[in-house]
Amino acid sequence: MQVLAVASELYPLVKTGGLADVAGALPLALKHYRVSTKTLIPGYPAVMAKLRGDTTQRLHFDNLLGVSADIIETHIDGLDLLVLDAPELFNRPGGPYADATGADHADNWRRFAALSLAAARIAAGEMEDWQPDLVHVHDWQAGLVPAYMRYGDTPELPSLITIHNIAFQGRFDASVLPHIGLPAHAYDIDGVEFYGGVGYLKAGLQTAWAINTVSPTYAEEILTPEFGMGLEGLLTTRAEHLSGIVNGIDTDVWDPRSDAALTTHYSAATLKTRVVNKRGVEARFDLDEDDGPLFCVVSRLTMQKGMDVLAELADDIVAMGARLAILGSGDPWLESELLAAAIRHPGRIGINRGYDEPLSHLMQAGSDAILIPSRFEPCGLTQLYGLRYGCVPVVSRTGGLNDTVIDANPAAISAGAATGVSFNAVTTDNLRRAIRRTVGLYQSPKIWSVMQKQGMKSDVSWDKSAGLYADLYAQLIANKG
Ligand code: ADP
Ligand code: GLC
Repeated sequence: MQVLAVASELYPLVKTGGLADVAGALPLALKHYRVSTKTLIPGYPAVMAKLRGDTTQRLHFDNLLGVSADIIETHIDGLDLLVLDAPELFNRPGGPYADATGADHADNWRRFAALSLAAARIAAGEMEDWQPDLVHVHDWQAGLVPAYMRYGDTPELPSLITIHNIAFQGRFDASVLPHIGLPAHAYDIDGVEFYGGVGYLKAGLQTAWAINTVSPTYAEEILTPEFGMGLEGLLTTRAEHLSGIVNGIDTDVWDPRSDAALTTHYSAATLKTRVVNKRGVEARFDLDEDDGPLFCVVSRLTMQKGMDVLAELADDIVAMGARLAILGSGDPWLESELLAAAIRHPGRIGINRGYDEPLSHLMQAGSDAILIPSRFEPCGLTQLYGLRYGCVPVVSRTGGLNDTVIDANPAAISAGAATGVSFNAVTTDNLRRAIRRTVGLYQSPKIWSVMQKQGMKSDVSWDKSAGLYADLYAQLIANKG
């Protein structure tokens, strides 16, 4: 089976969050199910810089929404990539979506419409010698792909859209419509229209053959006004085409027995040597060396991630005798709250406001527990990395966090089934109680190490979920006629 995937970021080339990890790992796991994927991504500078000898120009567009563009095929780390080389849209400083000051690029509507249109043209058979059987698109940045296929003049291919985060919807003014190459009748409640503007995610949810999101719990949550963010009505009408498939992780990239970012390697049988990594984390964050509990946070610093609540608890965490290492960046006011906490508590709280992939690995390998108090979390990957590395996840009971962590309640502890600590509703009281509970568990080394080992045994790989994607693809293709 041949699949065209479309994503706006992809590990290891360009990453702002979990979408990149998924876009980079799923195609590798799907190979075991005889699915071969080509993934279309934008030619950002970071991507173009990595193109070496193995490149083929596969398609040229004289005029892709007003710009000249090429599709270049390349192979990197086992991935088969199609890069949309459109310098006017993608060759610029800053991140994938925003400039260096953090402001969204003003022409994101054109950049990601062009990405989507290029995908639809490939789906329509314009690339010589290759025809996908199905198109799998991720998030709003690729949301227009199924809409272009619906309103185009070639037969539609089966399509699947994956929602990684419904908070990001790609909503633009209706005035963009004449410039994105869709017919006027597409501007309709059954098409791309959304609250008087154009909604790229909405368009995808409306026109894709099937919709999925990245955990079963989130698939249910987004049918409610609390989590659906205005799309719950549409999703409810399409509920029979909506499913949840929990993300996995790349267990080769994330393997404590071989990870190059660690100070020392270990496995469930040699957990005691983790302490060498703990010393490594303490050194990197200027924390006191001691054997008390060390918590970490590896996260975007936003309200979604509950970082405001965490900031309020900084003093309590220190008062409980614990330490905290924070790696992340995000909302400036949250960054400064957390920085202030680190300044108030030298040696007990440390913060690194950068993006540092190797350090994030070391933190999972050396911290005792990772705090993830998200208000909503479609899947979440850092708890999966934590499970794999014996870094006990402390999570709110929402979305994928609910589906992947088994709370250390008395029954789960006595059954040896617990893998973490979870709590309902993100409030300071609930998070404080969860942290206190975690510190208590840490003080019982036997219970703690059983919990670590149980976590390390959890299947966090892509194997099972890739099989579910392969089944879903096959079903959609079978329903073609
Ligand atoms: P989201 O995609 O909502 O940000 P996920 O948990 O799905 O949340 O994925 C976040 C990914 O980004 C993980 O791979 C995590 O390790 C990584 N990450 C987040 N912040 C940083 C950072 N400052 N440095 C390195 N990696 C980070
Ligand atoms: C989004 C979500 C996160 C999920 C990731 C990958 O960024 O916020 O929960 O793990 O996508 O699916």
